[in-house]
Amino acid sequence: MERLINKRILLGVTGGIAAYKSAELVRRLQDAGAEVRVVMTAGACEFITPLTMQALSGNPVHTNLLDPQAEAGMGHIELARWADLVLIAPASANFMARMAHGHGTDLLATLCLATGAPIAIAPAMNQQMWADSGTQRNLLMLQEKGIHVFGPAAGSQACGDVGLGRMLEPHEIAELAAGVFEYSLLTGKHVVITAGPTREAIDPVRYITNKSSGKMGFALAEAAAEAGARVTLIAGPVYLPTPARVDRVDVTCAREMYDASLAAVDGDCNIFIATAAVADYRPVNPADHKIKKSTEEIHLTLVKNPDIVAAVSAHEKRPFTVGFAAETQDVIAYAQAKLTNKKLDMIATNDVSGSNVGFNSDNNAVTVIWPGGHKVLPLASKKQIAKQLVELIGIRYKD
Ligand code: C5P
Repeated sequence: MERLINKRILLGVTGGIAAYKSAELVRRLQDAGAEVRVVMTAGACEFITPLTMQALSGNPVHTNLLDPQAEAGMGHIELARWADLVLIAPASANFMARMAHGHGTDLLATLCLATGAPIAIAPAMNQQMWADSGTQRNLLMLQEKGIHVFGPAAGSQACGDVGLGRMLEPHEIAELAAGVFEYSLLTGKHVVITAGPTREAIDPVRYITNKSSGKMGFALAEAAAEAGARVTLIAGPVYLPTPARVDRVDVTCAREMYDASLAAVDGDCNIFIATAAVADYRPVNPADHKIKKSTEEIHLTLVKNPDIVAAVSAHEKRPFTVGFAAETQDVIAYAQAKLTNKKLDMIATNDVSGSNVGFNSDNNAVTVIWPGGHKVLPLASKKQIAKQLVELIGIRYKD
């Protein structure tokens, strides 16, 4: 079931008495970590109300293809793209027929045509309808299209008949839905990432900071979530939107970032990635009030901030710990030294002396070093570098 973590399930409900079980199915999918949006056919709305499904899923329920209001929000093409899996439960005989013949007469049928995601159906109908040669032909056509078919089960039916046609139980459907997804290297792992700069107060209106944009850390958070990890992103002051499926903790100064990081490691962190450009020093005693202009010179006394990544790697519940090193000279040698001194499992290092990579840029080129090996990731967008790094981390983490 771990494979459902962070997955987006578009649950289609069609008209049949088993529709009442779809409410329970929403819960089972959510318990397994999935986000669920519901689309109902007109028939389904005769058996269970959209309000019930809206309350359970926490998202608006979609029922009409040509609904200007819904299209202004998440339109049908967007919904089709949003889904990692389209799961239709219950799937009626009528809906199977429409799907088999590629009809786009309602919202759900259209979504099935428009999505690139895998599709699964959990048929539910009277045993005679299931056995009907038309339904069986449609079933074959759907299977040939690569559609997953979950069930049906045999047993006593709402109409009094006994036989094949009962919808599987919600927990069985959720398990089979999880099986559609492959295990990724980070499936179910908790990844904690620090990102961005920190701000160290001089007085209530002034601070010391640096040029970090946070883009690398945010791209890594997105890539880790896509690889199936639960992600906590501890962000300094940056102007970036939170990636989908990521828990964000906002902090301002190094000591707040330290506290948030150590609290996460005290919990259940498997992998810690320190991309933040933490200020090495902070003013020893920030003034309580704005410092006034008076003397020709003023002197700031700075004290060292705690080294967050070093504290994490020395923690008794030490996660797999990854650091970053932005250097302007002797890049590899300095990174090797940091790998050893901070007792890291891996370090990603880049040369920030040029302007086309590193701080504030959308691109990066890094050399990843670990005890006994290294890999060069040539110039690419930070998103592409993040994907490659997450893959490397997943491989090294398993070793
Ligand atoms: O020592 P330096 O700042 O170059 O090391 C960079 C690495 O250490 C980065 O991974 C950075 O996030 C981390 N770091 C930290 N806490 C600090 C300073 C750096 O976690 N106080």
